[in-house]
Amino acid sequence: MYEQISHSLLNDILTEVKQPKGEDWQHFYTRLGANFYAIYSLFQHLYGQREDFKPQLASLVSVLSRQYAQRAPHLRLKDLEREKNHDWFMQQKLVGMALYCEGFAGNLANMKDKLAYLQELGVNLVHILPICDCPEQANDGGYAVRDFRKVDPRYGSMEDLEQLIAAMQQCDMLLTLDVVANHTSDQHAWAMNAKNGEQRYQDYYYMYPDRTLPDMFEASMPEVFPEHAPGSFTFNAETGKWVMTVFNDYQWDLNYSNPAVLIEIVDIILFWANKGVDILRLDAVAFLWKKIGSTSQNEREAHLILQLLKDCCQVTAPGVIFIAEAIVAPLEIIKYFGEDAVNAKECEIAYNATFMALLWDAVATKNTVLLTNGVKDLPEKLDRATWLNYVRCHDDIGLGFSDQAIIASGFEPVSHRRFLVDYYTGQYPDSNARGFAFGVNRKTGDARISGALASLAGLETALANNDQPAIDNAILTIVLLHNLIMSFGGIPLIYYGDSVGTLNNDGYLQDSSKMHDNRWVHRPTLDWEVMALRNEPGTVQQRLFSQIKQMIAMRKEIAAFADLNNRELIDMVNPHLFAFHRYVQTGMNPKVVVIANFDVHPQRAALHLFKQKNLQKAEGTLIDLCSGQTVQIEDDAIILPKLTAYWLAA
Ligand code: GLC
Repeated sequence: MYEQISHSLLNDILTEVKQPKGEDWQHFYTRLGANFYAIYSLFQHLYGQREDFKPQLASLVSVLSRQYAQRAPHLRLKDLEREKNHDWFMQQKLVGMALYCEGFAGNLANMKDKLAYLQELGVNLVHILPICDCPEQANDGGYAVRDFRKVDPRYGSMEDLEQLIAAMQQCDMLLTLDVVANHTSDQHAWAMNAKNGEQRYQDYYYMYPDRTLPDMFEASMPEVFPEHAPGSFTFNAETGKWVMTVFNDYQWDLNYSNPAVLIEIVDIILFWANKGVDILRLDAVAFLWKKIGSTSQNEREAHLILQLLKDCCQVTAPGVIFIAEAIVAPLEIIKYFGEDAVNAKECEIAYNATFMALLWDAVATKNTVLLTNGVKDLPEKLDRATWLNYVRCHDDIGLGFSDQAIIASGFEPVSHRRFLVDYYTGQYPDSNARGFAFGVNRKTGDARISGALASLAGLETALANNDQPAIDNAILTIVLLHNLIMSFGGIPLIYYGDSVGTLNNDGYLQDSSKMHDNRWVHRPTLDWEVMALRNEPGTVQQRLFSQIKQMIAMRKEIAAFADLNNRELIDMVNPHLFAFHRYVQTGMNPKVVVIANFDVHPQRAALHLFKQKNLQKAEGTLIDLCSGQTVQIEDDAIILPKLTAYWLAA
């Protein structure tokens, strides 16, 4: 948008900073012109009252142009290609995996040898969990960064990473890396300077001489790690000040009311964009703005900061998109896409934590009422935005569905959540799950759940008891959950180890830096001899791997699975079933009905429920597109085997 005040300011800035010119810069300037009014307005809103507003804005613009100058020609070309094909990330062709490079392959250099495995499974997007330099001990699995521009020597060097990126580009595999934007390690240079008394760097954090303001903040801030890191402030002996530490006591929260912090993070985002990263996962974005008297989560300013980050990234590296990691209430999560697909855009992708938690609810209850209600309650998301659908990740499972949805499903919120924690920690009489309670808050009664997918699904118990029917059920459950993240709409993100049924691993209990945090129970070091069993017919690994592999291959062929806000729930009457219709707006592509049975007994779905969907028969029978199996029909009803989902052409 053209607006006089901002444009005359931009002209001043460009004259002062002596911007480069030339053909190569055309795209940069057109994008800067297009986004500058938004950048200016947001910056004005956040920092307009400051005397140094103009030099700060100039410094932001010079970061954008300095990083553009360093953007490699092939990445600039990719930016232009993605501009033309702007919904590239919403296609059903993408299938992701999240992994720790250490646990998956040992280090970054070895990762190159494992790309063949990822290709074999059909994965073409890899989220490598944090690899930036971190302290040896206090590192929160890489989320306490000491140097944002250095690869942690434990995983290799920047050169190893560059070689890996080149190898991934060769096989059309996209890369996601983290930018931990909310906090740094207390060993980061900024924190060290702050500890040395430098005011400039103390202003990068929230530091207070006494408890007055910390007490006021804490009065309304929920605790993230109530067991091992209670409270939200930590006393720093070097400065005699209280520092805000919402997560662990060694993770210092960055203070975005200081524009210098925002500019540093823009620079870091563009640094990684210029390394060739396709998608940046912005960690803990709900926490970016703190306000006394509020929970200091999901604040309006946190959204404005994300809009600014997006507008800036679009000027220099528009082909790079963002994932919002905001594990918050359903109605809050959706806001991280932004208010509008073009203006006020934030992140193109967001973790679908709601769907994940609802799936686990359906597994425990064998009932889909809450799943259906919870999905119904999700507001339609923006165009040009998509979900990251996952079953497990490196974090705990938070039971983050809304109380209203629980009540509407006939349960009582407190006792229902307690039931789920009991169920997944194996304390419920009927449960064979082997998870652990995480983040137990004795004051509020809240708890989350840790545990590997296979162990939560009952495989560990079943194997220990050598109980064949229970092993079968666990395998069915694992496949069913993967089936739904493949078909729901969005990018499925598999967690490393899950496609061969990797179990809990309590090795972390021997490590003093990890033993207090049971999320490590589901952050495995893969044993590649066990992984090789994926090719041994009849093994658990092979039964899982072959089905998930086939599912991925089929997903990629079904255009209706692209995420274009093209899903409609189908009312199933039967409370064990969950079904939806995936359609394509235009063209002749087949539509698909997905129907899933969460019960441990076969269930009937009356055919008339699908009347308007026109289920297509092949030679008089219905075929499941995913497995190729013939669907059993009896008395005008589909018979769904236990713990099974079908994809039916419609
Ligand atoms: C994110 C990460 C989690 C980490 C937290 C604090 O939620 O996924 O692992 O503990 O941020 O950085």
